[in-house]
Amino acid sequence: MKIGVFDSGLGGLVVTKAFVDAMPEYDYVYYGDTQNLPYGEKNSEQVLAYTIEAMKFLIAQNCGIIIIACNTATSIALRYLQQKFIPSYAPDIKVLGVVIPTVEEALEDDAKKIGILATKTTTNSHIYQQELLKIRPDLEIFEIASPELVPAIENNDFETAESYVKQYVAQFSDIDSLILGCTHYPLLKTYFRKYCSEKVKVVSQDELMGKKLYDYLQRHIEIDICLSRNNNLDVFVSKISDKYIEVAHSLFPNITVNEAKR
Ligand code: DGL
Repeated sequence: MKIGVFDSGLGGLVVTKAFVDAMPEYDYVYYGDTQNLPYGEKNSEQVLAYTIEAMKFLIAQNCGIIIIACNTATSIALRYLQQKFIPSYAPDIKVLGVVIPTVEEALEDDAKKIGILATKTTTNSHIYQQELLKIRPDLEIFEIASPELVPAIENNDFETAESYVKQYVAQFSDIDSLILGCTHYPLLKTYFRKYCSEKVKVVSQDELMGKKLYDYLQRHIEIDICLSRNNNLDVFVSKISDKYIEVAHSLFPNITVNEAKR
């Protein structure tokens, strides 16, 4: 069986790269729902419906474990998938998200004030706030939605993205950690680190997910032994475009980007 990675678009390929770099021996299947991007502007029902379709696709590709790299899909759909959909549809499959590993990383140092930047749908769900407070009820948390960043990145307009990063960073006062709670934001991490004060830990999912998945597989040997190891990555999107092929090639030169037939 393979490791599936799901995102609303191609941003999750950055996280996939972290997995492949950390554990190149496994077989991965990536699915980006480029047709329905941006999830961050969709309502919960839509995000849940798209995410269920994505799970069905990855399960049909023989994935034994699926990581939802999309923060918006994790915040809306993960609990339902784990508690309802997967137990009846494919009980042997494990589905994990990005929120808990990110929260764990943000809390590793003794942070007292934590900022979260994410899509509108993610911040409206307050998932980061809830999970952080479960572990550390005394934390001060500031959540801000940053709807301009995904379109700027999608348009390859990094100048506009940088000016928004500067404005958003200025809105967080005196934080210890800043969670970049969206798959696209690792592409802007140098700007975040440029504008945040040096004492702020910028938590970027591409830098933590490789080690988190490695640890998970070490602890769940019953899953690990079912995973095939042929150093392979298959990339699927729901709607192909030259721009997506370009993004995929910048991370994985020579990779074939396939349009998913569903
Ligand atoms: N993948 C989404 C996330 O991590 C960002 C892009 C979108 O809005 O679809 O929240």
